[in-house]
This record gives sequence, C-alpha cells and structure tokens, in this order.
Amino acid sequence: MAENWVLTATAQTPTNIAVIKYWGKRDETLILPVNDSISVTLDPSHLCTTTTVAVSPTFQQDRMWLNGKEVSLSGVRYQNCLREIRGRAGDLEDKEKGIKIEKKDWEKLHVHVSSYNNFPTAAGLASSAAGFACLVFALAKLMNVKEDHSKLSAIARQGSGSACRSLFGGFVKWVMGKEEDGNDSLAVQLVDEKHWDDLVIIIAVVSSRQKETSSTTGMRESVETSLLLKHRAEEIVPKRILQMEEAIKNRDFASFAQLTCADSNQFHAVCLDTSPPIFYMNDTSHRIISCVEKWNRTEGSPQVAYTFDAGPNAVLIARDRKTATQLLQRLLFHFPPKPDTDLNSYVIGDKSILKDAGL
Ligand code: ADP
Ligand code: DP6
Ligand code: CO
Repeated sequence: MAENWVLTATAQTPTNIAVIKYWGKRDETLILPVNDSISVTLDPSHLCTTTTVAVSPTFQQDRMWLNGKEVSLSGVRYQNCLREIRGRAGDLEDKEKGIKIEKKDWEKLHVHVSSYNNFPTAAGLASSAAGFACLVFALAKLMNVKEDHSKLSAIARQGSGSACRSLFGGFVKWVMGKEEDGNDSLAVQLVDEKHWDDLVIIIAVVSSRQKETSSTTGMRESVETSLLLKHRAEEIVPKRILQMEEAIKNRDFASFAQLTCADSNQFHAVCLDTSPPIFYMNDTSHRIISCVEKWNRTEGSPQVAYTFDAGPNAVLIARDRKTATQLLQRLLFHFPPKPDTDLNSYVIGDKSILKDAGL
C-alpha cells in the first residue's frame, strides 16, 4: 500500500437550542446531566459547524484547527470522543486509491481536524453543541463506524452535553439515563422537522463576544452553590418535560411558549442563585423579553416564545410566518442593527427546523 495517501470526510451539523434546559452534571467526566432536556434543532442556514477530518500515515500526531487557529486536542473531552470512535472503527477499502485499512490500524493513524463555525464561538449560541456533534459525525464517517445516531449521540455527549441533541433534526430529548457508565444517557428524536413546520426561529445576535463564564464552569458552580438548581432538577423539570412533550405533540403553541419562556427564565434565575452570581443576559436581552411579554399580553395569547442559552443572544420562536414578519419589524424598530458592529444582527433560516443532522 502506498504510504502518502490522505483520506478525508466532511460533515455539516446544525446547532440546537434547548427549550427545557440542561444545566448541571451529576458526573463531570462522562457528562451526565441532573435532568432531562428538550431542544429544537436549527436549520444549518441559521447556525452550523462544518468539519473536515483527515487521516494519513504521514501525520505525526492528532491536530486540530478551529476557525483557522490551531487548538489542542489533548483535552479529556476531545480524547474521549476520539477514543470512543476509534474503538468502533470498521474496516475500510478504497480500491481506486489502493488503500486498505483494517480495524486495528485506526489506533495507529493520526487525524487532522479542521472546523469552522458560521456563527460566534463560545457566545451562548451553542457552538459546543454543533462543534462536537459535527466532530463525532465526521470521524464516524471517516472511520466507517456503523452505529446509529443515538449511539453516536452518547459519544458526542462526552464532548459537550448539549452536542448529543444535534445528532437529530426536529425536536429532540436528551434522556438523562440511570446507568453509571452513561450508556443510557443519549438523545432521542421526539418528532421530525415536518411535524411542526409553521414555527419560524429568529436569532438576535446581541453580542458575539466570548462569554466570561463558560457553560462548563457556570454549571459546575451552580451545582455546588445553588439550592434552586436542586429544586429545579428534582421537582420542576420532570413535570415540565412531560408537559413540553405534550405541547409539541399537539402543536399547542400557547403551552409551548409558556413552558419555553418559563424554563429560560428559571435557568437564568439559577445562574443568579449561584455564588458568585452569573449574569449571562444583558440589558438588551432583558428589553427583548419585555417587548415579547408585552406583545403576547396585548394579543391575549402567546405569539412568540423567547429563550436564552448561556449568553445574551435571544432565540425567538414565532408561531407562524406572518408573526415572524411582524416580529422582525418590531425588532428592527426597537433594536436596530448598529452600523459597523455585529450588534443586533438577525439570523433567519429558510426553513427553521432542520431535517437531519450530519449532512
Ligand atoms: P457555547 O455557548 O458556544 O456552546 P461553550 O462554553 O459551551 O459555548 O463551549 C465553547 C467551546 O466549545 C469552545 O471553547 C470549544 O472548546 C468548543 N467548540 C466550539 N466550536 C467547536 C467546533 N467547531 N469543534 C469543536 N469544538 C468546538
Ligand atoms: C445553557 O453543553 O455547553 O446551553 O456539557 O459542559 O459542554 P458542557 O455544557 P454545554 O451546556 C449547555 C447549556 C445550555 C442549555 C442547553 O443547551 O440545554
Ligand atoms: Co455549549
């Protein structure tokens, strides 16, 4: 076999935004959460990661570039994902190139990874979700791994918890699981993207700056210090998960919006209840909430739901296209984009909810 070949695989994976939030781990290494969570997977025209992975006998070590800058792959999360995928790699033969790789060979072959996010990284728009889902999916493709998306989701989970939910389109639930080894802590699709295609998602990029407290650190501090987190995980979320599943099944926008907004607000309340308190939202975020709340009250029923991850950027879900148009008009009026900055830019997808992950 020639020794100067390079094999590559590319994947594109969208991000997902939780409508019932994951915040808190019961196991830091395996990334096992303290509660179930539910998310909606966005269309890649919104926010997505594109990752190319390459393998060659000429590569001396595993290396990775994120948005064009070299980053270290030595962290435990990257190492866990690489180990899990290598352990499941299959035989591969490319007759044209004269390449034959047997299962056992993958352990010795080094990978190079190049990944780009088409949206701000580490700014509370779930770059870790799209990023690790894409990495796992691309590696699985390259190494001929024959596992279903749920199994792959349990691997992506070990890169970043929220990543497990990006392996599916539509509405997705991350089942927290009970087993100590985490094998049952994985994502399942609740409904596909066609089930509720009236919804339109608009993302308001309030700030693309990297957040001061990463999700990982923030939730660790919340677990250690917030009593509200414990109450939320044990008493509130289990009921909300059932109600949210029902609302999604019935396309009941009023319940969906009420639960989504309440859960986002409670997650940020947990952040405030953390010592020292964590502030992910800013003044503009608060003003967006007030604007939506006022509109929903004037209409007598919810037209738009809002949710904020660990950052100030708003994810707004409109009940239909007509409402989305009105929403955008209001946003442009009250929060006009600031010239020469990325403040108050808006991202709207063609289709809001993605069909399938790992294109
Ligand atoms: P976010 O709110 O954007 O998810 P996090 O604090 O959860 O922010 O995670 C940010 C981290 O996720 C980055 O510092 C990086 O380690 C990882 N990450 C982001 N994008 C990628 C990517 N495309 N591939 C691999 N890892 C990524
Ligand atoms: C607020 O998945 O980024 O977005 O598992 O430590 O990588 P790690 O954290 P991450 O946390 C996401 C938190 C959230 C809510 C959610 O996505 O459910
Ligand atoms: Co994240």
